[in-house]
Amino acid sequence: MPYSDQPTVAPSGVAIPLLGFGTWQLEAEDARRMVHEALRIGYRHIDTAWIYKNEKAVGDGIADAVAEGIVAREEIFVTTKIWVEHFHRDALLRQAEESAISLGLTPDLLLLHWPKPIPSLEETISALNEAQEQGFTKHIGLSNFPSALFRQAAALSTAPLVTNQVEYHPYLSQKTLIETARELGSSITAWSPLAQGRIADDAVIGAIAKVHGKTNGQVVLRWIIQQGVIAIPRTARESRAAENFDIFDFELSADEMARIHALARPDGRIGDWLDEAFQWDQDA
Ligand SMILES: NC(=O)c1ccc[n+]([C@@H]2O[C@H](COP(=O)([O-])OP(=O)(O)OC[C@H]3O[C@@H](n4cnc5c(N)ncnc54)[C@H](OP(=O)(O)O)[C@@H]3O)[C@@H](O)[C@H]2O)c1
Repeated sequence: MPYSDQPTVAPSGVAIPLLGFGTWQLEAEDARRMVHEALRIGYRHIDTAWIYKNEKAVGDGIADAVAEGIVAREEIFVTTKIWVEHFHRDALLRQAEESAISLGLTPDLLLLHWPKPIPSLEETISALNEAQEQGFTKHIGLSNFPSALFRQAAALSTAPLVTNQVEYHPYLSQKTLIETARELGSSITAWSPLAQGRIADDAVIGAIAKVHGKTNGQVVLRWIIQQGVIAIPRTARESRAAENFDIFDFELSADEMARIHALARPDGRIGDWLDEAFQWDQDA
């Protein structure tokens, strides 16, 4: 069965495992070790990017797991991203090819990493479509696009934009963007789902975790996937990779979900790198 029997979302019919493994800041040796370990544990979705400088190591970790018979290539959903310096057509196609070569496979999903005003969205979206047509990726999508730009990009694209990967955790509301994704038939992927570890000491989350016999991290990841949003936590520790995967055997009540939603605050954003030509959604 593709992606084992873990839950998926299927924007435009493209099945994506709701829980993935993030690799930002994992240097080559850790990236190869942790990707292999994540696949051994059961993760079937791996997230990387050209700018993380670890695509080759991520590809090696996947190849190790495939060679050991842990998993088949077709059972893994692999995402990478086009860096902002490569948004002109020729540069985008060059990087798309380079990323596929570094990974040693055709990624399932290729995202535009952050929106930028130059070159035009028309040129970049058209080039992203071309990358897919030329076989450098199976599917395409976005990252860090506010709703207005998300809509423009979707209107310009021939192929469906299957996700918009954005910062999302209990301290940052993404209500508007989640509704926009739903309207567009796309999906949201939550980066920094654990607020880079800040959720570990949260008393509200801790109280809910105690009721379920789970950790704060597990409760937060469950809260995200229970909304139909994809979560891609990162860790350099094998024990935490296993902890973060162990979220499929419990459910949060509507009241518990609401208590975590209520933790969102106006200054909750951690990673702000949006070009000043654009604006985040107002609830974000
Ligand atoms: N598209 C974008 O612009 C963008 C931006 C940022 C990130 N991302 C993607 O999203 C992924 C996740 O985001 P992130 O790496 O920023 O942050 P994150 O997953 O929210 O947090 C990672 C941090 O939390 C710690 N941690 C892991 N599991 C934990 C747990 N159960 N309890 C407490 N702490 C825990 C890790 O430490 P240890 O390693 O010590 O366990 C690490 O320091 C990235 O790796 C990357 O793939 C994308």
